[in-house]
Amino acid sequence: MSGATESGTPFEPVYTADDLAGFDPATALGLPGAYPYTRGIHPTMYTSRPWTMRQYAGFGTATESNARYRELIAHGSAGLSVAFDLPTQMGMDSDAPLASGEVGKVGVAIDSLDDMRELFHEIPLAEVSTSMTINAPAAVLLLLYQLVAEEQGADPATLTGTIQNDVLKEYIARGTYIYPPAPSLRLVSDTFTYCAEHLPRWNTISISGYHMAEAGATPAQEVAFTLSDGIAYVEAALAAGLAVDDIAPRLSFFFVSRTTLLEEVAKFRAARRIWASVVRDDFGATNPKSMMLRFHTQTAGVQLTAQQPEVNLVRVTVQALAAVLGGTQSLHTNSYDEALALPSAKAARLALRTQQVLAHETDVTRTVDPFAGSYVVESLTDDLEAEIRRLMAEVADRGGAVRAIEEGYQKLEIERSAYDVGLQIDSGERVVVGLNRFGGAEDEPYEPLRVDPAIEVAQGARLARLRAERDQPEVDAALAALAAAAAGTDNVLVPMKRALAARATVGEVCDALRAVWGVYRPSEAF
Ligand code: 3HC
Repeated sequence: MSGATESGTPFEPVYTADDLAGFDPATALGLPGAYPYTRGIHPTMYTSRPWTMRQYAGFGTATESNARYRELIAHGSAGLSVAFDLPTQMGMDSDAPLASGEVGKVGVAIDSLDDMRELFHEIPLAEVSTSMTINAPAAVLLLLYQLVAEEQGADPATLTGTIQNDVLKEYIARGTYIYPPAPSLRLVSDTFTYCAEHLPRWNTISISGYHMAEAGATPAQEVAFTLSDGIAYVEAALAAGLAVDDIAPRLSFFFVSRTTLLEEVAKFRAARRIWASVVRDDFGATNPKSMMLRFHTQTAGVQLTAQQPEVNLVRVTVQALAAVLGGTQSLHTNSYDEALALPSAKAARLALRTQQVLAHETDVTRTVDPFAGSYVVESLTDDLEAEIRRLMAEVADRGGAVRAIEEGYQKLEIERSAYDVGLQIDSGERVVVGLNRFGGAEDEPYEPLRVDPAIEVAQGARLARLRAERDQPEVDAALAALAAAAAGTDNVLVPMKRALAARATVGEVCDALRAVWGVYRPSEAF
């Protein structure tokens, strides 16, 4: 590890002016808010507005999650971030046989419009921005959100938020895919089109490297594979007849932030510079907003330890600082107990407080891109850019992100990196405080938050009631119209919204698409 960054690029004990001999600040950096946006996407960055403090949360029923959101807002959280349970993420209802044991576990269970209405009870959707971590069924949950917002009297054109909607990384690292890549990309393009028309302020996708990093990707792999996915989405949208400047301003990204602060800052700066040039030079965008890489950051969960969990507060602080010094737009700080269970209320509050200390007590928000011109950070930024571009070329040489996924290329490269890190931890070469060094008997008993298994029964009863009450012929007709659109070329979101309004469930809507598009089975390389 000595002499090299996490990405395998050189890391010298001393950097001097000689290391920046060929460095031209005018072209490599520009000013903040100007091409190539290395220094950040806004001229003023946090000096005029801090990043959005957006804590990912959700568990159990809609009612319980609603209470947690209202508590987060009361404590100063500026944006919501919804975690869905696995059945919802897989487009299954709570009473589906495969959902058994998973209802409400890693997020909230949402089966229908009724649940969604409860999730946002007394939360004015015209005023908050909401991120929803949902991928294969992203369109379904977005339309449910729109229906609830409309019931509240909000104008859809003003709604702000983000759906993750990044199914390509699901095949690479996260696993909650449903349909094969081609119809999945069709659904993403339909969603881009629908949002451009009906929800123009909505961020239509959060192209995510976070989960690749959690699976073991190096910083360079994380950015390279994510930007390659971004290229695939733009290409799919262009193939569907959209123009790059119609969709690129609403693309957003999602990265991890690790404890290796200097390299992470360089990573974020390099990512912005590369994306700006790809969108301008390769896709011919002319709108500056298309070129700006806007991103959410989550601190690295994989670096947290179950041993001495309070030490995680320190790690999260360093990781969050790296994200802020790297110019993030939005940040989730992990709770110190996340290596053990879902965050307890106290730990979740401390995580938010960490961001508030950074925003309001330190001086890193008083000036934009404080590392600009630093011998080491500019050198690392240049080196990372070169390594990321090399890996992007590897993906392109395989025919692009989708073809590379089908070969299992990204997944295999990430697994190799994860294996190397595992060996370094086992040998002690990589120090993890409290795990392989400085362990002790200081661990106090810890009471994790547990989700009540009765939720599954309650959610099943709710579904039975819904199916008995609703107008079944209307639901059947709406689902048939959805299937017909999926088999043809019409935008599926329009009949999908009608079905959801008639109280078709998330599982029924996804089943209608499964019946037409099939389900994805990974190749042997997986
Ligand atoms: N000067 C001028 N304008 C500024 C400004 C400044 N200094 N700072 C902010 N603004 C403006 C912005 O331009 C924007 O205006 P617009 O809507 O007209 O464009 C407005 O203020 C809001 O600011 P941002 O867009 O910067 O911040 P948001 O918070 O609204 O959006 C985002 C940030 C990254 C673009 C968005 O996509 C987002 O919120 N993403 C969050 C994703 C997320 O939370 N994901 C959770 C994933 S968890 C997960 O995957 C689970 C697991 O498996 C780990």
